[in-house]
Amino acid sequence: KFAPRVFSGIKPSGGLTLGNYLGAIKRWVEMQGESYETIYCVVDLHAITVWQDPKELARATREVAAGMLASGIDPEKSVLFNQSQVAQHAELAWIFNCVARVGWMDRMTQFKEKAGKNAEKSSLGLYAYPSLMAADILLYHATHVPVGEDQKQHVELTRDIATKFNHDFGEEFFPLTEPVIEGPAMRVMNLRDGSKKMSKSGESDMERINMTDDADTIAKKFKKARTDPEPLPETLDGLKDRAEARNLVDIYASLSNQSSEAVIAEYAGAGWGKFKPALADLAVEKLSPIATDMKRLMDDPAEIDRLLGRGAERAREIASPILDRTHEIVGL
Ligand code: ADP
Ligand code: NA
Repeated sequence: KFAPRVFSGIKPSGGLTLGNYLGAIKRWVEMQGESYETIYCVVDLHAITVWQDPKELARATREVAAGMLASGIDPEKSVLFNQSQVAQHAELAWIFNCVARVGWMDRMTQFKEKAGKNAEKSSLGLYAYPSLMAADILLYHATHVPVGEDQKQHVELTRDIATKFNHDFGEEFFPLTEPVIEGPAMRVMNLRDGSKKMSKSGESDMERINMTDDADTIAKKFKKARTDPEPLPETLDGLKDRAEARNLVDIYASLSNQSSEAVIAEYAGAGWGKFKPALADLAVEKLSPIATDMKRLMDDPAEIDRLLGRGAERAREIASPILDRTHEIVGL
């Protein structure tokens, strides 16, 4: 009943990281050639759930778009746009706020992580974030959402909202969207603390690789990355209780399009003095052409705005009839 359609997005809440690239963008590029219609979004409405400097937000929105374009998102093959330019996202989110239950939001681990001890002082938007994300996805009747591991619970909530809506109104109107979480680096960890994910809004620059980092910075960050002193084991099993080591192996695997097993087979017994420089070289090889292209694109912000504007028109063409029909179903 539902045509295969992919939707995914990234928040312009800072510079793009290697986590965003391996967990999301790299996969999005690959899916363009497959049998899906692909829709990719800079989700600025999600970014403002925490404070954003207005000028910096506008810059980061263009930079995230530039990162996607430079990585190979082709605006001819995919719909690429900025969320706030398509008002239907916020409109459907309101309806979903009235479908979702408070208890469902209370169970969201990302809210607990982000709000910390100060939940009462966080914005209502941060709390309702998963409902807006459900709207982003279901506004296009998207059947698949390629995301990193951290977003799995939100995609499950999207299915809960679709299920309840369909049940309450007696019509199979929204699809039950599948998360697509596959590949060796779906949860890239912080380079200084292997128990946290790498994030663009993390505290220290040394804990993450930014997509715009130059070769020396990338080499320095991997060199300083926390590891244990043991050499690499003979099999992947030997990395079981070695989160930091496992993270670096998984990053290598994803960047080189291999399995983590294959990387271990190649580097069995190697020390960090050998593995880290090899990893840094590989990351530079893959990221530096993208960084160069991002800089070139950022020199012409008007062109990025033009591409995003055209993408928004195409997005509205898909979204409008779905939102109109939602209104009819609800009686609005
Ligand atoms: P961030 O957490 O860096 O602010 P977003 O929330 O904008 O990133 O997430 C954009 C996409 O990047 C999502 O699909 C998310 O799952 C993915 N992603 C973010 N961080 C990581 C990570 N450390 N490892 C794998 N994927 C990630
Ligand atoms: Na995230």
